[in-house]
Amino acid sequence: MFLGAVKPNFILLKKDFPIFRMTKSQKIVSSSVEETVSIAKKFAAGLKAGNVLALEGDLGSGKTTFVKGIASGLGLNDSDAVKSPTFVLMHIYPTRIPLYHFDLYRLEGNADLAAVGLEDFIYDPKAITCVEWAEKAGNFFPSSTYRIALKILGSDKRQIEIKKASLE
Ligand SMILES: Nc1ncnc2c1ncn2[C@@H]1O[C@H](COP(=O)(O)OP(=O)(O)O)[C@@H](O)[C@H]1O
Ligand SMILES: [Mg+2]
Repeated sequence: MFLGAVKPNFILLKKDFPIFRMTKSQKIVSSSVEETVSIAKKFAAGLKAGNVLALEGDLGSGKTTFVKGIASGLGLNDSDAVKSPTFVLMHIYPTRIPLYHFDLYRLEGNADLAAVGLEDFIYDPKAITCVEWAEKAGNFFPSSTYRIALKILGSDKRQIEIKKASLE
């Protein structure tokens, strides 16, 4: 179904996690929904096929809003189409680079994770994958994953921290 998807074995996945990692991180404070969308849109401009975004943070912290900005930055005109895929677990948007949007909120344990087949998507070199509630998947992600941690600072304020592990 996913032509060209690279499916590494688990040994490779583990080796991919060095014991010592340096992490590049950037923190931004957003003061409105529009600002979060615009931050995500700018961030999307630098994304390439194969990139993975692991979004973490409480309910209402802005994960779906951030994905809306990513989708819009990748050329999706109808940002209303972007909704938390809480019940279906995944949406695919017909963006410039196809965008897979997961929500693991309802995920219970590793058996569920295997059933979702997440690795088929996050290792698809032709698409970009956004995963809400990534904390539910633990260390499942490749080391090149962008970690987007969102925090509620106030009614309209959100801290957006973007981290990328780096091997240099
Ligand atoms: N600066 C902001 N950025 C993003 N969302 C915000 C912001 N300020 C207030 N909100 C509100 O917070 C909620 C975020 O919802 P959503 O993006 O669905 O979060 P999540 O997917 O993390 O549950 C929305 O109701 C939105 O109106
Ligand atoms: Mg959501």
